Amino acid sequence: MGIVVLRQDGKADEWKRALRNFAPEVPVYSAEEPHPKAEIEMALVWKHPKGSLSEYPNLKCIASSGAGVDFIFKDTQAPLHLPITRVVDPILAKDMAEHVIATVFAHLKNVNTYKLQQFDQTWKPRTYLRMKEVTIGILGLGELGAFTATELSTIGFKVQGWSRSQKEITSVTTFNGPDQLDLFLGSTDVLVCLLPLTPNTQGILNKKIFEKLPKNAFLINVARGGHLNDDDLLEALDSGHLSGAALDVFHTEPLPGPHPFWQHPKVHMSPHCASVSDTESVVPQIIANYKRLKTGKALENEISKTQGY
Ligand code: GLV
Repeated sequence: MGIVVLRQDGKADEWKRALRNFAPEVPVYSAEEPHPKAEIEMALVWKHPKGSLSEYPNLKCIASSGAGVDFIFKDTQAPLHLPITRVVDPILAKDMAEHVIATVFAHLKNVNTYKLQQFDQTWKPRTYLRMKEVTIGILGLGELGAFTATELSTIGFKVQGWSRSQKEITSVTTFNGPDQLDLFLGSTDVLVCLLPLTPNTQGILNKKIFEKLPKNAFLINVARGGHLNDDDLLEALDSGHLSGAALDVFHTEPLPGPHPFWQHPKVHMSPHCASVSDTESVVPQIIANYKRLKTGKALENEISKTQGY
């Protein structure tokens, strides 16, 4: 019995410590230390080394330590028939909403443009936008999307959202399904992508979508790099149709040096840090699921294999 932590970002020990502190009775190992592979029943993963999950013959559950699970499906050697769980956590949702709010205001008030102007000592006031002039459109109304929509609406933005299936959120106008996508896009000034990455949403942020947004619309992608067609975005920015884009996620992370996004004046980048799982907050739900697994109870936050999230 036990849990193994599989990740390559140097945070395995931090997660192991947090799990052990919370549940000293549960054996927890990081992949770097010697551990009894046949006894491991749960793997807590974040961008684990491909193929590593198949080394555990008695594994019973794959738990993502983030909200997304797309990286698990990219590992074709992973035992994908096992239950897969993801994190649903109020701190993760709040952090995402705060990042989106900060990014929206930076756009409205030209914060990034003034930083660029500062570098060449340019004194040039620009027109700014007011909250009441801007409609924010959230693409994806899952846990993070719905919460972010509510927070934006609470501070006074006009907010609308689009999702695959119908959702009702107080003070947020909702659209659903392919038939209502154009209507949603046509009245969206700032498009925020918070969709899960699945075969259906791969490349969804493309030319067709950008063309339907009003001129000068702004894009915020805080979901996954795989949602975005990079070339289509560059074209929409260079033609002047989109006024800018704030990107937190990329096809390859870190983004390779020669990529045009690095130097593009209308692209504002952050290093996949919009919302990062807080170990203290997330560990109780991992241990709760481990105990559910041991007692044969249904797991919480288990994803649907057919939907991919
Ligand atoms: C972050 O990207 C997450 O999926 O939690």
